Amino acid sequence: MTTSATSHPQTPHLKVALLGAGTVGSQVARVLLDSKDELALRSGVTLDLVGVAVRDVDAKRDYEIPRELLTRDADSVIDAADIVVELTGGIEPARTRILRALNAGTTVVTGNKALLAAHGRELQDAAAASGSQLSYEAAVAGAIPIVRPMRDSLAGDKVTRFLGIMNGTTNFILDQMDTTGAAFDDALAEAQELGYAEADPTADVEGHDAAAKAAVLASLAFHSTFTLDDVHCEGITAVTAEDVATAAEAGYVIKLLSVGERTEDGVNLRVNPVMIPRNHVLGGVHGAYNAVFVEAENAGSLMFYGQGAGGEPTASAVLGDLVSAARAIARGAEGIPLSDHAKLPAVSMDNVTTRMAITVTVKDRLGVLAQIAQVFADHGVSISTMHQTEDPKDQAISVLRLVTHTGRHRDLMDTVGALRELPVVAEVLSVIPVETGD
Ligand code: HSE
Repeated sequence: MTTSATSHPQTPHLKVALLGAGTVGSQVARVLLDSKDELALRSGVTLDLVGVAVRDVDAKRDYEIPRELLTRDADSVIDAADIVVELTGGIEPARTRILRALNAGTTVVTGNKALLAAHGRELQDAAAASGSQLSYEAAVAGAIPIVRPMRDSLAGDKVTRFLGIMNGTTNFILDQMDTTGAAFDDALAEAQELGYAEADPTADVEGHDAAAKAAVLASLAFHSTFTLDDVHCEGITAVTAEDVATAAEAGYVIKLLSVGERTEDGVNLRVNPVMIPRNHVLGGVHGAYNAVFVEAENAGSLMFYGQGAGGEPTASAVLGDLVSAARAIARGAEGIPLSDHAKLPAVSMDNVTTRMAITVTVKDRLGVLAQIAQVFADHGVSISTMHQTEDPKDQAISVLRLVTHTGRHRDLMDTVGALRELPVVAEVLSVIPVETGD
């Protein structure tokens, strides 16, 4: 930290290094350069952008960063900085670079959910060892302030569960399917045309991005360390237009939810497409928006809503961390080590209780319903509703849509397995959990 006699003589100056100048990084650079005076007046610290490490200094960027700031030499800008902002994504070289900064006592701000979900504990330990700060508001749900509320505002409460729509791409796709009746492939193509989905949409549509965010948020919510491997993860590629229409008829909407839930034995973490009541607050989250619904013992229910992706919204979260870190450095404060005192284990889906919507096609014969009902009874699963229609393409086949009462996930999946083996069942078309929302 230095003080200087340039434009802000009374404020301490801090050197900021930016790693990565893509969609988010270039917006962070824009605000740092264009709003420097205002940020200094607001925070009492002047943030000097001293270098931007990129792979290609000549690449076209959303915001034109002055050429003299751009470099391919990441280590030099890290070593020269008071605060390093990492926005390159991925595991390496991001991990090595962040450790280099933290080990030297340099504050780090990152939006790298994949890295945090894989190596969060290693980074936290490095920060604690050197007294440096590690902040990552942008890693979960873009612009939505949820990391800091979870870490600070709810530090005196006991979080019991969170349910989040934490991936904008999949929410856009499911919302298109719901509002237009589109098939998954068509909705994905539209998301790609509009720039919501990547050319390779795997990380989004298979749920990996949402699962990484769930692991990061759960570590804060439950004062434990969770990684991506702890999250049961199913994407949305198998969700059909028929599933969406059936859910709609029953007053539900299908959403890809990231859930962290305290159980008797630990914490269950899951990302999967579920049916939620259309009138639940998460049912009204449209387009590429994100939202996180948190339940805590004393606070009750809380809802956080906003833009979960995009350059400017995500830059907002990065800059919030940056200003807050700068203020802490200016007053000589060290980073606060993150508590994982509870050390709760991640527990499997087996004992999670849920209702399940199951759609099967059956050969329309005498006694078929009795056989189906017997399979449920044999597994201790109670049927709540059953709706039978004739397959329009084949009168010998019926479509059965069943919704169960609440049961253990293991029993529900064993029931589905047994249905698949039953000779009268032609096909199990879909199996979708139903969140009651209470
Ligand atoms: N691709 C993510 C989304 C944003 O669609 O929400 C970055 O995590």
